[in-house]
Amino acid sequence: MAENIKVPKGLAGVITDDTSISKVMPESNSLTYRGYAVQDLCEKCTFEEVAYLIVYGELPLLTELNDFVIKERKYRNISDDLLDVIKKFPKNAHPMDSLRTGVSFIGMEDQRIWDDSFDTNINKYINMLAKIPTIIAANFRHKKGKDFVSPNNNLTFSENFFHMCFDKVPSKEVVKAFDVSLILYAEHSFNASTFTSRVITSTNSDIYSAICGGIGALKGPLHGGANEQVMYMLKEIGEVNNAKHWILDALSNKKKIMGFGHRVYKFGDSRVPTMTKYAKKMASSTGKEKWIQISNILNDTMIEEKNIYPNLDFPAGPAYYMMGFDIEMFTPIFVMSRISGWSAHIIEQAANNRIIRPLSSYVGPAQRKVLSIKDRNTT
Ligand code: COA
Repeated sequence: MAENIKVPKGLAGVITDDTSISKVMPESNSLTYRGYAVQDLCEKCTFEEVAYLIVYGELPLLTELNDFVIKERKYRNISDDLLDVIKKFPKNAHPMDSLRTGVSFIGMEDQRIWDDSFDTNINKYINMLAKIPTIIAANFRHKKGKDFVSPNNNLTFSENFFHMCFDKVPSKEVVKAFDVSLILYAEHSFNASTFTSRVITSTNSDIYSAICGGIGALKGPLHGGANEQVMYMLKEIGEVNNAKHWILDALSNKKKIMGFGHRVYKFGDSRVPTMTKYAKKMASSTGKEKWIQISNILNDTMIEEKNIYPNLDFPAGPAYYMMGFDIEMFTPIFVMSRISGWSAHIIEQAANNRIIRPLSSYVGPAQRKVLSIKDRNTT
């Protein structure tokens, strides 16, 4: 017999703790990181400045930014041992699984695994921020049978990622669009992967374990994995003329449309207009407007038919595709950025911790007697 308890399925509407990292305001479709509107950060800052802000709590002064950037660049190289492990990854493995294994490996290489003091955790954060793009790019090239391209310490975070993947850096416009996507993806309060990282931290486990857990949660198509699913959907639709029929058919078959809907935002995701603006700019400069045209039809039809709005994954998926990335790299790119939000939450949780251990409402059989195997066979 179910106990007479109203269970908040999916923890919907439940506030589980305080945070000073970001604020999601569905009533005004807005989002702030440490009090700054995310759109303003996209216009006025680089990803490195925002990665600093999220974890330290303040935008950096010039000398602080220089120190941060010098450290990030210094940590970009991965060990030969890790490179050898990457070369052994199955080529058909999803890059999120490869990345989860890579982060676990750098955790094993770190001798300070049980030191969760503020300074050490910040240092481990910069270590992961720097090495995650190198792991993703090395694995990308391994899958294609190409040689590894070493990080270039004269390049910015975003430029260096393109360099390591493609052995060249694209135009300033493309790099800016990528940088903006990282700023928009960097932090979003108590979403599923961040909450996972906080739960792991609450047991006094280490930051690498918490990040590996976050990666596992982000991979799912209801969360970060949606940016990949959006592009598979757009490719399946293929042509602008098919879009209206495809979406109406999917809705009549009660399909979930990837890149739409959100647990918190019900009337639009604050990050979508900024990402859409940069995706459109790229589409016109690369002559790939068809993805934007198909997206527009899906967007309008979802609002007309269901009153459901797109989330950030909807414009981010085609933006990454137009930049030349394989679809399976989209969620790993999300990790390159969200490592900032996760680390800030891990540090916040550790500073004021109580183990996260909710209750459940039991709905299984009432207590009963255990029979021996002989008695079970004869009854
Ligand atoms: N396509 C079609 N219908 C959708 C939808 C979508 N993308 N998102 C929500 N809905 C509908 C649901 O079917 C449900 O309808 P019902 O009440 O008639 O059953 C209603 O809207 C509420 O959706 P629900 O799944 O209960 O909301 P949630 O808060 O539990 O889930 C998401 C939020 C994000 C997981 C959900 O909107 C989703 O699966 N979206 C697609 C995946 C995605 O883009 N994820 C990235 C999130 S940033």
